[in-house]
Amino acid sequence: MLLKDKSCLVTGAGSGIGRELAQAFAREGAVVGVADLDADTAQDTASMIQDSGGQALALALDVTDETAVDAAVDQLVAHCGGIDVLVSNAGIQHIAALTELRYEDWQRVLRVHLDGSFLTSRACLRHMRLQGRGGSILLMGSVHSKLASPLKAPYVTAKHGLIGLGRAIAREGAAFGVRANVICPGFVRTPLVDRQIPQQAAELGLSEEDVVRQIMLKDTVDNEFSTLDDVTRAAVFFAAFPTNALTGQSLLISHGWHME
Ligand SMILES: NC(=O)c1ccc[n+]([C@@H]2O[C@H](COP(=O)([O-])OP(=O)(O)OC[C@H]3O[C@@H](n4cnc5c(N)ncnc54)[C@H](O)[C@@H]3O)[C@@H](O)[C@H]2O)c1
Repeated sequence: MLLKDKSCLVTGAGSGIGRELAQAFAREGAVVGVADLDADTAQDTASMIQDSGGQALALALDVTDETAVDAAVDQLVAHCGGIDVLVSNAGIQHIAALTELRYEDWQRVLRVHLDGSFLTSRACLRHMRLQGRGGSILLMGSVHSKLASPLKAPYVTAKHGLIGLGRAIAREGAAFGVRANVICPGFVRTPLVDRQIPQQAAELGLSEEDVVRQIMLKDTVDNEFSTLDDVTRAAVFFAAFPTNALTGQSLLISHGWHME
């Protein structure tokens, strides 16, 4: 088991990638703080882990609420005796042309991804510094951390910003043994992606099949979506990596959609 007895917080763990990550971390022996805006889905994920013999604590949490973030991390630390890994994964999407984009939607997307990642990282870093046993901070980026697609300006901007935050955490966290990485998946079939297929079809005047074929998978080497398993393998790899050799790096998981 690669994460035996590690205490891990996963945000946005009530659905999609976060739920899969929480379960994968638990299978590797971690005690998982399952945090989500939706308390019921967080509890569902925690129950799935417990039913499979793992250890989990459900946390109802809005990652943009400073007081709530500090309290949730304190609660997990009290429950587990510390915090070793954060996956800042909570995220939202908003599909609109720049000329039609409302300021409040721009701000909402940036707040969840950037403010949420800053607040959860800061809360965990403070405990990691006091504990003196290092740690790993993983930020959920995207292929859109590296390139832009139309209709996704706030998401693209936020995901690019996470590369900077990851590097800043790597620089400052090294003083107390904390590593930072950004995971950058291509399209993974989750509720977030399933919602945007009909939205993009309507905006672009395409069929839903053409949105998948001509937009989402067009540049992959195999016409395949990235999978939950692809993403969780990379997250476990970074979380369990034993040295600082990879700190500050971002990793594309996109079936060749984007290569660097
Ligand atoms: N699915 C993809 O193709 C894909 C690709 C690249 C990156 N990502 C990123 O992966 C992450 C997870 O995406 P997903 O596809 O699993 O989406 P999802 O919609 O299935 O899950 C996102 C979860 O985040 C939660 N959430 C939203 N706002 C929150 C807040 N303020 N506080 C706490 N929780 C909140 C939601 O309740 C939901 O449970 C996101 O950061 C997303 O940008 C997804």
